[in-house]
Amino acid sequence: MFTKIATRSFSSSPSAAYKVTVLGAGGGIGQPLSLLLKLNHKVTDLALYDLRGAPGVGADVSHIPTPSTVKGYNPENIGEALTGADVVVIPAGVPRKPGMTRDDLFNTNASIVRDLAKACADHCPDAAVCVIANPVNSTVPIVAEVFKSKGVYNPKKLFGVTTLDVLRASRFVSEVAGTNPVNEKVTVVGGHSGITIVPLLSQTNHKNLDTDKRDALIHRIQFGGDEVVQAKDGAGSATLSMAQAGARFAGSVLNGLAGEKDVIEPSFVDSPLFKDEGIDFFSSKVTLGVEGVKTIHGLGELSDHEEELVKLAKETLIKNIQKGVEFVKQNP
Ligand code: NAD
Ligand code: LMR
Repeated sequence: MFTKIATRSFSSSPSAAYKVTVLGAGGGIGQPLSLLLKLNHKVTDLALYDLRGAPGVGADVSHIPTPSTVKGYNPENIGEALTGADVVVIPAGVPRKPGMTRDDLFNTNASIVRDLAKACADHCPDAAVCVIANPVNSTVPIVAEVFKSKGVYNPKKLFGVTTLDVLRASRFVSEVAGTNPVNEKVTVVGGHSGITIVPLLSQTNHKNLDTDKRDALIHRIQFGGDEVVQAKDGAGSATLSMAQAGARFAGSVLNGLAGEKDVIEPSFVDSPLFKDEGIDFFSSKVTLGVEGVKTIHGLGELSDHEEELVKLAKETLIKNIQKGVEFVKQNP
């Protein structure tokens, strides 16, 4: 008589306990993101850090009956907040007001992200760092440069979070096509701002939309952030949808670290795809694994129109990336 025992195969020996640290946990994104991470049963230790207010958010979220312990930290304890972190999510930074581009946030957010990256490099150099703070096309290279300067850069553990573009693409395409957004999967590549956001509609069931509809849909996906900025009328940008996007992305990183198979999310990563053109970071589908990035997927077959959009995206991306790299050189 044999007893069947359920087994799972892992490609290395993943940990069963995961510490996740949110930097900027008191903010518009940070608070709902902390709530959603508290609901993730893979998270065993949730560390919430902000310049102010994180202990309050921590006490509040800690009453939710899921297994993780939660603690809020003020600046004097950033080392403790980060030590032992497996995943760090960074929504710390200033959001846009109407009339601003994400690049207009550079002057404020570049130094915030640089300093938080230094703290990560010092206290949790092996953590997977997920950058939400804008402009993502520049803040991700800033983190990379800081880690390089401290000799701890691991390109497999650095992610720009572009998941909100993916969520918007699912939702907006469903509105045009009259379908259930839950079933809509759209790959979005490039970067995270305006024309650098390139949804690959030709790889969906909606490749035959007429040109006007297609162009309007692509424009809405590229500039969806502006809709929220305008509607909030000076009170910030997307926070709730971004929290959902950030929790989904961090959850996928954790699933990868835990050895689950076929965990795939588009993300802005250190990518070989266009390095020969001087573009060191690019968003495309990434398979997440026990060491972070496992496989960076190519763009697949593109329509002529998408080829053109990718070309335009690259022209902006190369400047955005260079701006981040230069910033750290000039302001180490
Ligand atoms: P917010 O102002 O509501 O919150 C930001 C928080 O960061 C505040 O609590 C603030 O105290 C904190 N903070 C600032 N400097 C800090 C530092 N040095 N250390 C720790 N905490 C610090 O802003 P928000 O709406 O939460 O947006 C945050 C960032 O996320 C913005 O830059 C915004 O543009 C960006 N964002 C990105 C995406 C994306 O898709 N990647 C989507 C939405 C917003
Ligand atoms: C978004 O896409 O909603 C964010 O990048 C915030 C913004 O400034 O639009």
